[in-house]
Amino acid sequence: MTRSPSPISRFVPMLCGLMLSSWACGGGGPSVTGTGAVADKGEATAGLTPREDLGRRLFFDESLSDPPGQSCASCHDPKVAFADPVKSLPVSRGAVPGRYGNRNDLTAAYAAFVPPLHKDPEEDIWVGGLFWDGRANTLAEQAMGPPLNPLEMAARDREVVLTRLRALDYAAMFNDVFGPDALSNAERAFQHMADAIEAFVNFGCIATGILQILALNFHETIGCRYLGWLRTVSSTVPSEEVVTH
Ligand code: HEC
Repeated sequence: MTRSPSPISRFVPMLCGLMLSSWACGGGGPSVTGTGAVADKGEATAGLTPREDLGRRLFFDESLSDPPGQSCASCHDPKVAFADPVKSLPVSRGAVPGRYGNRNDLTAAYAAFVPPLHKDPEEDIWVGGLFWDGRANTLAEQAMGPPLNPLEMAARDREVVLTRLRALDYAAMFNDVFGPDALSNAERAFQHMADAIEAFVNFGCIATGILQILALNFHETIGCRYLGWLRTVSSTVPSEEVVTH
């Protein structure tokens, strides 16, 4: 497992940075352009490592599905705690029109805390594992599922994903984070994509969740800063939105 360092120990300095930042409600935050792409790379990625920031972009990128139009965030929207925003259906919609998944989705907000599937010796029951049936043990393993699932993002194979990754306007970040050969072949690129997404889910989702709770309780003082930060992780948060009780 590549869970390091602890999300909570990372969160406290990030929160301090947010409190000291100049972000304010109704503007002043970094400008967000297009799908998950953030204009101001410096400020916009406050608190995230380059690997997490790459993962964040991939998490919100709708160009990876086939046909394009669906990202991880389509089914795991930060505005509803990284769960499916569509509440009128018992399962999630796929990228291909008319296709639906066979299960309802799970929040990705605290998936980083799910231990690998194992038998609890004291309780004598199976616990842990990601997905409803615990079939993935790491967030990277989990992140490899949706892109190729015909009922979800529906890319035909890893070669298709490689082509899409190479076409990203931030493709160079793969080389910065994983080295010059990062996108040299489909296997390697797919693994790096999953590793980056794992890094974001491991920290970014949890930080977002904690900030959401704090913003609900202290929205006068932290709500504004939180919205500024949330806009950096999700281009879908309108600037006029205000967190209220
Ligand atoms: C079409 C909707 C859809 C898309 C797109 C999608 N997911 Fe999911 N997600 C689901 C569903 C449904 C489940 C539960 C599936 C199961 O248990 O078999 C799930 C489960 C998960 C879980 C497990 C949470 C837990 O506690 O076990 C995580 C983490 C997750 N998704 C992250 C992602 C990431 C990362 C991506 C993008 C690479 C993604 N999802 C794309 C619908 C989606």
